Amino acid sequence: MKNNGELLRTIEMNHGIVSMIDQNLLPFEFKIIQSYTYSETCQHIKRMTVRGAGAIGAAAGFAMAQAFLQAKSENLQAYVSAARKEIEQTRPTARNLFYAVEKVYKAGLISPEKAIEKAQQIAHEDEEACYNIGYYGNEIIAHKANIATHCNAGSLAFVRYGSALSPIYQAFAQQKEIHVWVDETRPRNQGSRLTAWELSKANIPHTIIADNAMAFFIQQGKIDMVIVGADRIAANGDTANKIGTLEKALAAKHYNIPFYVAVPSSTFDIDCKSGDHIPIEYRSEDEVLWISGKSKNGLFCEITTSNPGSKASNPAFDITPAELITGFITEKGIIKPNRAAIGKLLLNI
Ligand code: MRU
Repeated sequence: MKNNGELLRTIEMNHGIVSMIDQNLLPFEFKIIQSYTYSETCQHIKRMTVRGAGAIGAAAGFAMAQAFLQAKSENLQAYVSAARKEIEQTRPTARNLFYAVEKVYKAGLISPEKAIEKAQQIAHEDEEACYNIGYYGNEIIAHKANIATHCNAGSLAFVRYGSALSPIYQAFAQQKEIHVWVDETRPRNQGSRLTAWELSKANIPHTIIADNAMAFFIQQGKIDMVIVGADRIAANGDTANKIGTLEKALAAKHYNIPFYVAVPSSTFDIDCKSGDHIPIEYRSEDEVLWISGKSKNGLFCEITTSNPGSKASNPAFDITPAELITGFITEKGIIKPNRAAIGKLLLNI
């Protein structure tokens, strides 16, 4: 996320205190909040103060390290394994969360210092991987390009550079003439709130469109390529990402434009055979029935436009089958969405 020309970290931990940008207040207010305990950090993951695959992973790693710092030596084992469960229950789809918790947990069993070291390392690796995703992704962005994205897989969704937006940042820095189509991403509007905010901070030309408008713009020839992020990728390349991704991928395939998923290796789940095995998080129906924002007179408010009394269903993610994906833009290069290429990528880490 660029603030006064500077890319800031979305989340970091110093002396056991986790600091994060409060993403629920954006784009209206920029505030960094602090979390002192692992349960507080869990609450922030659940409430989506911090969200997005890599940022959730970093937050979960920091929360696990906080649990080791809080544990008393007489009941350390019971305390940290209860904490691990609590952290793992916050956001079930995000692979990076489980990746980070497992690594920090193992390190913490040696000492709390090792837990902190590992959590910092995971955050640092996320930053580095995202930068390199930008490098490889930029290579496939033409000098004049109209790129569409979905949800927010930008700097706010990771520790720093983002996945889907990282190539866009690098292309823009090289003075390529790019324009980004940003869909709203109902129900929480991560596109119109967060991606649009990030892009405007970086002065990157962009246009917000309604969620159901992307297929129209693809059909009209206004979009050259789609780049999205991912929350978990199965061993066969099936990809879980924010609800609505699947319909964008179908439209891209139909009209023969490339559909890329930008993702660090930490998002691949080699133990998960296919998309059918990825757990899909269902969130509160209130997120569909109510919209929060700012009123014309500048006050924060929640409104509904739905029929009073009607029920809603709110899956947070969908699964895009591998065959609809052109390639994965990873920190090691662009790979094909198949088992062999994914296996090779993970072996080389
Ligand atoms: O529910 P969220 O906002 O945590 O959703 C995760 C995401 O940010 C998206 O699915 C995103 O496109 C991929 S994660 C970088």
